[in-house]
Amino acid sequence: MMNYFLTKLPKAELHLHIEGTLEPELMFLLAQRNHITLKYDSVEALREAYNFQNLQDFLDLYYEGAAVLIHEKDFYDLTMAYLKRVHQDGTIHVEIFFDPQTHTHRGVSMETIVRGIHRALEDGKRWLGVTYVLIPSFLRHLSEEDALKTWEELKPFLPFFGAIGLDSSEKGNPPSKFKNVFQEVRNAGLRVVAHAGEEGPAEYIWDAMNTLKIDRIDHGNRSLEDLELMAAIHKADLAMTLCPLSNLSLKVVADLVDHPLQELMDRGVRVTINSDDPAYFGGYLAQNYISLQQSLQLTKEQMIQLARNSFDASFITETHRIELH
Ligand code: ADE
Ligand code: ZN
Repeated sequence: MMNYFLTKLPKAELHLHIEGTLEPELMFLLAQRNHITLKYDSVEALREAYNFQNLQDFLDLYYEGAAVLIHEKDFYDLTMAYLKRVHQDGTIHVEIFFDPQTHTHRGVSMETIVRGIHRALEDGKRWLGVTYVLIPSFLRHLSEEDALKTWEELKPFLPFFGAIGLDSSEKGNPPSKFKNVFQEVRNAGLRVVAHAGEEGPAEYIWDAMNTLKIDRIDHGNRSLEDLELMAAIHKADLAMTLCPLSNLSLKVVADLVDHPLQELMDRGVRVTINSDDPAYFGGYLAQNYISLQQSLQLTKEQMIQLARNSFDASFITETHRIELH
């Protein structure tokens, strides 16, 4: 009963890497289409490799898999497959990250990437009624200079984007490494989000707030370690995009019963449930709601509040809101 309710409940996805929706079947199909040989000889062998000890283990596989994306149609097919999938289980608004550098460094043009993803998002809006915000993210294991170069490449497409993000290997790559590029992003009038406090310390959340002036925190699990930070997040009214099944897969939590969402919610933080990289972590948005509800024994009212939070914390514009009501 509850699972059916959570599947049908209208939800917004606010933390989703489109490259993380590449299912093994589609990876093999694109590899074949683009004459690329994969390291694994079957879908099953690839799935068996999805056994991660930490964030870096996952990222290595995720960047490797993204190499099958070459043409505009590949980016279109990837995005459309995701939209069709989540449309079936109550996801009516999506805020999607993509990692431009993962592709431009392999010689794929920014135009190919952006046009492929954007065209699918527009078709998805028209055909499926799923609204969207698109968010390019800088890879933090690379230099700020590289991010600045990428920012220049993104500039012709700025009207397509609702925010700019920061992701990839967190430890050793604090937000302040990207101070100048995010200052430029802000000057251009774009919102800013950053992964912080997933594996990295609570200090990185302070840094993302004070240096990058983020509008939303991606993950934020480790904020609970610092009560002053909790108060500051509350005061700034910042929402958090938590990703339960991702946290479980990447061993950020040992068990979902230990997930910090409940405590954060009890402390009044505007928390949301999201799927991060569902093809790799074993569940799309509805499954994240279902698994967390079961593990934390959350009530129907709490689940409705979490779905409501997802719309309140979204970057939906007024026009979007009118379309949704
Ligand atoms: N890129 C894709 N998924 C990510 C995650 N969970 N953390 C950091 N970078 C990512
Ligand atoms: Zn993420």
